[in-house]
Amino acid sequence: MRRRGAPKTFRAALLRPGVSGKRTVGDAPVRGRRVLVRVDFNVPQLPNGQVADDRRITEAMPTIEHLRAHGAKTVLMTHLGRPDGRRNPKYSLRPVVHRVSALLGQPVGLAEDIVGYQAIEAVARMKPGDVLMLENLRFHPGEEANDPAFAGQLSRLGDLFVEEAFGSVHRAHASTVGVPQHLPAFAGFLLDREVRELSRIRDQPTPPYVAIVGGAKVRDKLPLLASFLGRAQTLLIGGALAFPFLAARGARLGATPVEEGLEAAVAEFFTEAERLGTRVLLPVDLIAEDPEQHRVVTAPVDAVPEGLLGRDVGPETARRFAEAIVGSKTVFWNGPLGLAEDPRFAEGTRSVLAALARAPGTHVAAGGDSARIARDLGVYGEFSFISTGGGAALEFVEGENLPGLAVLPDAN
Ligand code: 3PG
Repeated sequence: MRRRGAPKTFRAALLRPGVSGKRTVGDAPVRGRRVLVRVDFNVPQLPNGQVADDRRITEAMPTIEHLRAHGAKTVLMTHLGRPDGRRNPKYSLRPVVHRVSALLGQPVGLAEDIVGYQAIEAVARMKPGDVLMLENLRFHPGEEANDPAFAGQLSRLGDLFVEEAFGSVHRAHASTVGVPQHLPAFAGFLLDREVRELSRIRDQPTPPYVAIVGGAKVRDKLPLLASFLGRAQTLLIGGALAFPFLAARGARLGATPVEEGLEAAVAEFFTEAERLGTRVLLPVDLIAEDPEQHRVVTAPVDAVPEGLLGRDVGPETARRFAEAIVGSKTVFWNGPLGLAEDPRFAEGTRSVLAALARAPGTHVAAGGDSARIARDLGVYGEFSFISTGGGAALEFVEGENLPGLAVLPDAN
């Protein structure tokens, strides 16, 4: 869980060799076999528990459909939320199972005890084409601890293992690295596609390559930003992420909170960008809010009025960012350029991403809520690929070695 820790040095974050192709579920002898499939159905939920966005489920359906059509006994396993090794009804997979059943058009059972008698008996009763789901893996303390005994119990429920949880391959947990050490392991179709698409952007981006990074926590995103230096021709930084960089350049940001303690890292970032030849564009103006009076103004970054908070990139910034995209052949996007969940502060992100339409090429989005934000802003269709991964996708693009991928055998 490095993402929650301190930033790495820039040199350590520079590109490392990529992974090669993995053998996929399409090559696996599944007929009549019990196939344990690690999916990432860690999906957003409504307050009543219903699945709010089923993209991670629908994207895994081709693998599940393939297994069903080829007579496998499919046992799905996933985590949901962070229940910290304790059973908590709030994180039960029951609503997820309902959605999977509806999408498949057949009942899917839920083994509530994960690896206990109920699970063992339910698996023993399965017929070819059946689908079963184990209750939230993180109800068991052995999952996040990568406990070998828990991994052994899980593996005894299957004959083969399929890794389809791209969003979780950065976690060295029992279901992601323990189980594949016990069973013949294969990549699911979604995982295979994620690796291919993100490898292409990481290892062979067609220039000119523009990376757009927004969001909030600079400390978390420094390795990602650093990984673009020398690889992307242009890096556009927006959102709260831009504030420490602007502050280092002498901007006057009113009452905008600026993440502290990053002065040395930011100075090193600018030096490395210069050395490696990546042009870094920062906002030149901001949409700022007076929270007391609910007033919104546009201000240059060196004159945000006292008491006001920067909320979005301003129109001049959006114009410059859009201009930088036109003529590019590859674009990577992660994170909104403003507080996009508030329509008053979504225009910067929307207008910059709309510029993708005028730049034919590969457009990839990854991390966090990218898919939802792109959909809400009406720019979903501008992307050639939107990863289902959050932290996993960003670590992949950074060049990290991901344990859940490393453990899978390569295709011959
Ligand atoms: C995600 O949503 O990024 C994955 O499901 C991983 O979840 P985690 O950060 O709780 O491990």
